[in-house]
Formats: sequence, C-alpha cells, structure tokens
Amino acid sequence: MTKIFTPVSRLCLAALALCLGPLAAFAAPAENNLGLSRRFVSKLNIGHYLDFSQPKYCDSQVVQYSGYLNVGTNDSYFFWFFESRTNPSASPLTVWFNGGPGCSSMVGLFQELGPCRVDSDIKDSYNPFSWNQVSNILFLDQPATVGFSYGSDNVNKTSDAAAITYRFIQLFYEAFPVYSSLPLHFFGESYAGHYIPSYANYILEQNKAIVASHSSRSKIIPLESVGIGNGWTDPLIQHKYSVTMACNSSYGSVLSESNCTSMANNYPECATLIQKCYDTGSDDDCFKATDYCLYELQYTFFYSGKSGYDVRLEEDIDITTTNYFYFLDDSTVKANIGAKTDYSQCAEVPSERFYYSGDNSRNFAPDVTDLLNSGVRVLIYAGDADYLCNWYGNKAWTDELPFKGSKKYQSKSLRPWKVNGKEVGQVKSASNLSFIRVYDAGHMVPAYQPEAALSMFTTWIKRKSF
Ligand SMILES: *[C@@H]1O[C@H](CO)[C@@H](O)[C@H](O)[C@H]1NC(C)=O
Ligand SMILES: *[C@@H]1O[C@H](CO)[C@@H](O)[C@H](O)[C@H]1NC(C)=O
Ligand SMILES: *[C@@H]1O[C@H](CO)[C@@H](O)[C@H](O)[C@H]1NC(C)=O
Ligand SMILES: *[C@@H]1O[C@H](CO)[C@@H](O)[C@H](O)[C@H]1NC(C)=O
Ligand SMILES: *[C@@H]1O[C@H](CO)[C@@H](O)[C@H](O)[C@H]1NC(C)=O
Repeated sequence: MTKIFTPVSRLCLAALALCLGPLAAFAAPAENNLGLSRRFVSKLNIGHYLDFSQPKYCDSQVVQYSGYLNVGTNDSYFFWFFESRTNPSASPLTVWFNGGPGCSSMVGLFQELGPCRVDSDIKDSYNPFSWNQVSNILFLDQPATVGFSYGSDNVNKTSDAAAITYRFIQLFYEAFPVYSSLPLHFFGESYAGHYIPSYANYILEQNKAIVASHSSRSKIIPLESVGIGNGWTDPLIQHKYSVTMACNSSYGSVLSESNCTSMANNYPECATLIQKCYDTGSDDDCFKATDYCLYELQYTFFYSGKSGYDVRLEEDIDITTTNYFYFLDDSTVKANIGAKTDYSQCAEVPSERFYYSGDNSRNFAPDVTDLLNSGVRVLIYAGDADYLCNWYGNKAWTDELPFKGSKKYQSKSLRPWKVNGKEVGQVKSASNLSFIRVYDAGHMVPAYQPEAALSMFTTWIKRKSF
C-alpha cells in the first residue's frame, strides 16, 4: 500500500481536513481537476484508504467520484460512482457488478445501464435511460486485474471475494457517509448470478455479527434487494435448459438434430458431476463438473455459428460498440478518472483461477433462499434471446427455489409485462421474488431494451408492482 502515487500526499499536506474528515455530497460536483486525486484514510480500519477524483464525464450535472478503494490486501479496486439525477438523498444506492468471471463493470457503465455512451468520434455522451435517473450508482471493478483494478488479491472463487467486497462498501460508507443510510441494492449480470447471492448473504451474516458483538468498526448495511440479469446461479438446472434454448426456443432451433441429441444425451453425466460438486463442494469435484459440462454440453452450441449472447445474431456480431475502449485508453480521461493501469474489459487471471477452482459449477441458489427468508427482495430478469444464461433456465431455477414464500410464488404463472402500454415481456411475482422475461433482448438487457430496463429498475426499487 506504499508509493501508489504522489499527488495525493501533496494534496493531503495542503488540505489535511480533506484526508481526515468524511466527505459530504448531495452537492454540486467539483471542477475536473486534471490528474488530481485526494485520499480518504479510514479511521476504523488500519491500512484502508480510498483515492478519488471527481470527474464530470457524460453526466456533468451529477456528483461523481472515481478512483481506487484499498482495503489492506495489496489491491486497488477501481470504482466510479454517479449520484442520482433526481433527489440523490431520497434515492437508494445501487452497486452494479458485471460478470465474467473477470469482466469489468465499465461494461455496464458504458454499454448498458450507466450514464455514459461513447460516440464514434470517441466523445462521451449522455444516456437518458441510465439507471442513475432514479438511483445513486456505484460501479465496481473486482477482483484484482479486472477493468482498471490492480493488485494481487489471490481471489480464486466467488466466496473469496465476498469479504473484500464487503470491506469496500464499508470503506465507501466511511468516506461518503451521506450514502450509508440509503437503501442498498445489488444489481448485476451473468456471472454476477454467482457473485451477488454470495456477497449479499455475506452482508446479512456480517450485519448479524455486528449486532451480536456491538462492534462499531463496521456499519450495518441496509441491503434491501438484489437484481440479477441473465445470471448464472444454479448450474444443475441451467445446463439442462441450455438444450431447450439451443434447440427448441421461441426463436427456433439453431443446431442440427444430431448436435441437439448429443447435448441432451450428455446432460445426465453433467448433472451427476454437478450434483457431486454440490454435495462435496471440493474444488476437484467442481472442476471436473465444469470441464465436462462445458466441453461436452455447452460448447456444442458453437456449431450453430450464432452468438452465445443472442441466438438471432451471427457469432461475431455484437450490438454494442467498442468505442468506449478508446475513450478509456485516452491519457487525459485516465488522468481525470484517476486510473492507474491500462483498461482490461475481461481479465484472464481471475477468469482462469475461477475456472480451475470449479467455481462455475457451484450452486448459489441456496444463498438466494437465505436472502428471501431474511426479507431481502429478489429480482431475476433475462433477455429471451440469450443462450448462455437463458431465460428458460433462470425461470426454472426460480420456480424450483425453496423459500418460505415458494408455494405462493409457484402458484403464479407468467403474465404480460407492459411498459407504456406495450407488452415488452412477461412477469411472475410473489413473496418478494419476481422473474421477468424481456422480449427481443440478448444477454445485456439494458443495451437492447434501455427504456424497458429503466422502467423495470424504477418499478422495482420503488416497490411498485409490474
Ligand atoms: C502487490 O501487488 C503487485 C501488483 O499490483 C505485485 O506486483 C506485488 O508483488 C504485490 N505485493 C505483495 C506483497 O503481494
Ligand atoms: C488461491 O489459490 C492459490 C493457489 O492454490 C493459493 O495460494 C491462494 O492462497 C488461494 N487464495 C485464497 C484466498 O485462498
Ligand atoms: C419444444 O417446446 C414446446 C413448448 O414450447 C414443447 O411443447 C415441446 O415438447 C418441446 N419439444 C421438445 C423436443 O422438447
Ligand atoms: C455437431 O454438428 C456438426 C455438423 O453440423 C458436426 O460436425 C459435429 O461433429 C457435431 N458435434 C456434436 C458434438 O454433436
Ligand atoms: C418480504 O420482504 C419484507 C421486507 O422487505 C418482509 O417484511 C416480508 O416478511 C417479506 N415477505 C415474505 C413473504 O417473505
């Protein structure tokens, strides 16, 4: 945690108060101070500190902070925070996680629900459908080496990262206490179907521990809900529905009959191996299950020549642009947001570590059960053209999920979901659990259906019904 960079310490000497006192917000953003960054040092946890700049990109009317959170583990995790466009003190705080494992939450910020878009001339522009329309949003790059994050955290699996993420939120709260009492929502996508249930459950456990120990080193985190888009949560069930999505979805089959038969024939062995992973939890068993299920089942999909993110598209077609790479590669932009490394959209190191620990095959549905049984609301949504984490599998695991309100949830069926009078999907909702199928959307729902996605998010955080 030494010699990260020098401008901070110089600024700290000049303006000591800034470095010691917690920071107020709900105010106008500061001017863009090229390359200048300030440091907040934790008084509660030795070695924890936050370096931040106040950029003004995309959404110059709102308060922004970006920089690094350091929680004493030789890691610097990059974050970018945007205040809500409407009444930030009455808006919740949402933390957004992209998946991978190993992919940056800048994907969400620049290509999906975030305030930023980057035009073909590599200029930042305003996304009118950003979710900070109604919520304060924190985009977090984790684990180390993802996005602009760096360090040597040794995170091998989802459960390793839960404690680090928890400490981050505590540090963010200490530095910016105005946001610490707002209702908190965790939202994310894809592999965040692993992260979010685990991280959220860790918060509940820590909240209980704080109450039991009367500790004042950490704050009770007011977690209210979680939302997961096209998530990977319960592999045993979801692998089964990969065959449905590839061979018998509402968009038709994209594979030959022999490929479909091969996938269906290999599912029972995949299921046996995954069940063993669920039962023993050993890295070895989970790795074997992952290896078999990916190679013998999932990868058969690639004979289709279609995109795993959208069965309607050829495999190398992406509906989003990579303009934002060039934006984040610009030295002025990097200086203004305090970035200290080159940007890596999806980092290989964590991705490989997670793969070899068998994390892909682990089941995070039991964490969702715990969340629901503790009164945390859960929203599972899925664009219906995605193959990888398709809506059939997500609907199936939520239908089979045991929790105290499951009977009532199971008694419901999908009904039309309308936005501005237009049917944009289907919904099923009871006992604090909602499932949404989003029509005409691939893996990244807000990139395909920005208006419907914002409406979904707004309805959810305001506790209205769909
Ligand atoms: C800390 O992380 C850096 C990479 O950012 C690495 O080079 C260094 O060896 C690490 N130090 C320790 C003590 O792990
Ligand atoms: C991750 O795995 C490596 C290699 O097996 C090990 O050295 C490290 O301690 C593990 N990390 C954690 C957090 O357990
Ligand atoms: C295909 O899906 C339809 C309903 O969408 C179902 O009735 C039919 O049994 C399925 N066919 C196969 C081979 O699974
Ligand atoms: C899938 O189908 C292709 C031809 O379309 C064939 O070459 C390949 O061997 C098949 N693979 C499996 C695993 O069924
Ligand atoms: C739903 O969540 C609220 C808190 O948000 C809780 O009070 C209520 O008991 C929960 N209902 C069910 C059926 O779990």
